[in-house]
Amino acid sequence: MILVKPRPQGTTLPRLCILTDLCCLCSHRALSHAPTSLHINQTQHCKLLPGMVSSQAQLCRSNLELMQTIVQAAREVKKTCQKTFSDMRWNCSSIDIPIDAQKYPPDLERGTREAAFVYALSAATISHTIARACTSGDLRLCSCGPMPAEIPEPGYRWGGCADNLHYGLIMGSKFSDAPMKMKRAGSHANKLMHLHNSEVGRQALRDAMVMKCKCHGVSGSCSIRTCWRGLQDLREIAMDLKTKYLSATKVVHRPMGTRKQLVPKDIDIRPVRENELVYLQSSSDFCIRNDKQGSVGTQDRQCNKTSMGSDSCDLMCCGRGYNPYTEKLVERCHCKYHWCCYVTCKKCERIVERYVCK
Ligand SMILES: *[C@@H]1O[C@H](CO)[C@@H](O)[C@H](O)[C@H]1NC(C)=O
Ligand SMILES: *[C@@H]1O[C@H](CO)[C@@H](O)[C@H](O)[C@H]1NC(C)=O
Ligand SMILES: *[C@@H]1O[C@H](CO)[C@@H](O)[C@H](O)[C@H]1NC(C)=O
Repeated sequence: MILVKPRPQGTTLPRLCILTDLCCLCSHRALSHAPTSLHINQTQHCKLLPGMVSSQAQLCRSNLELMQTIVQAAREVKKTCQKTFSDMRWNCSSIDIPIDAQKYPPDLERGTREAAFVYALSAATISHTIARACTSGDLRLCSCGPMPAEIPEPGYRWGGCADNLHYGLIMGSKFSDAPMKMKRAGSHANKLMHLHNSEVGRQALRDAMVMKCKCHGVSGSCSIRTCWRGLQDLREIAMDLKTKYLSATKVVHRPMGTRKQLVPKDIDIRPVRENELVYLQSSSDFCIRNDKQGSVGTQDRQCNKTSMGSDSCDLMCCGRGYNPYTEKLVERCHCKYHWCCYVTCKKCERIVERYVCK
């Protein structure tokens, strides 16, 4: 089904969003392309953000500040996904497809393992960004999270500003899950899959709430510590989700009791676990280009000759072999400390050998 919205005057932003069967990621993907200069502080700005379903647009109009945070989160999803998968054959490049592309890439629109990861990461990132925005004072409707109820150990005291995980989770899921709650969008199986994986992402976020402390006392003696509950960085949460991606469970949509549910395909009859990512369709091996499967292939990808991991030339190039090339690196070297107080360095050039897949 194709939805073409008229282009509002005075903007150059494409307003074309194709609601394929499964385009629940439309909004995340589209928002990550919003111009960086766009500062959402008027309700008209909501119209400039394509790809949102009606309840998301409503949330935008009623809470502009929050929307600005969500746009920021959408950019963060893209960056974090690509960084986390830079050593893998599938490197999240398809998240970068322009919003006016005729079709969304099938690696993320089919119910694949890759889609599972992106949904989980999106849900976690949106809630993470909102929780942090509360702490930093960017959002007027929320502030620091609550202090822990328990009495602190001797030498410790509660203080600082906790990340507002609770608010982040509520507002984040309101936005993230909106497309999957629409009647029209996609098959029941895919909606269940995306909702489940989004919840896995938010659970990873809950698990990433840790104690953070600051030392006080005479010249850093740390005789007393002020502590608060804060979220780990997104990068660590993404690594946690990558581990879950690697051990994701294939599921089928099958009657369980009175309703159809997702159940593991191969393993004994057990419900899907709350902390496992699930997918419905197997992926390509991403070795060669296959547009139908959303694979760009690994030709010309850089590989690492000494690595034993997924970025090794063997695995990355799928046994096709690789071509060496040389690169000139310019580095600071022969640094000297001058008393007092500056450092001078020389520039040294170094030739390194690199490899790309055939
Ligand atoms: C909206 O934000 C822009 C950019 O920061 C600013 O120039 C403009 O004055 C703001 N408008 C309102 C109504 O606050
Ligand atoms: C991902 O892989 C594609 C295809 O090989 C390549 O063009 C792109 O630069 C890579 N992206 C990143 C972020 O590494
Ligand atoms: C290649 O892999 C090795 C071993 O994992 C690592 O020490 C090295 O930094 C990597 N090189 C590059 C260019 O990434």
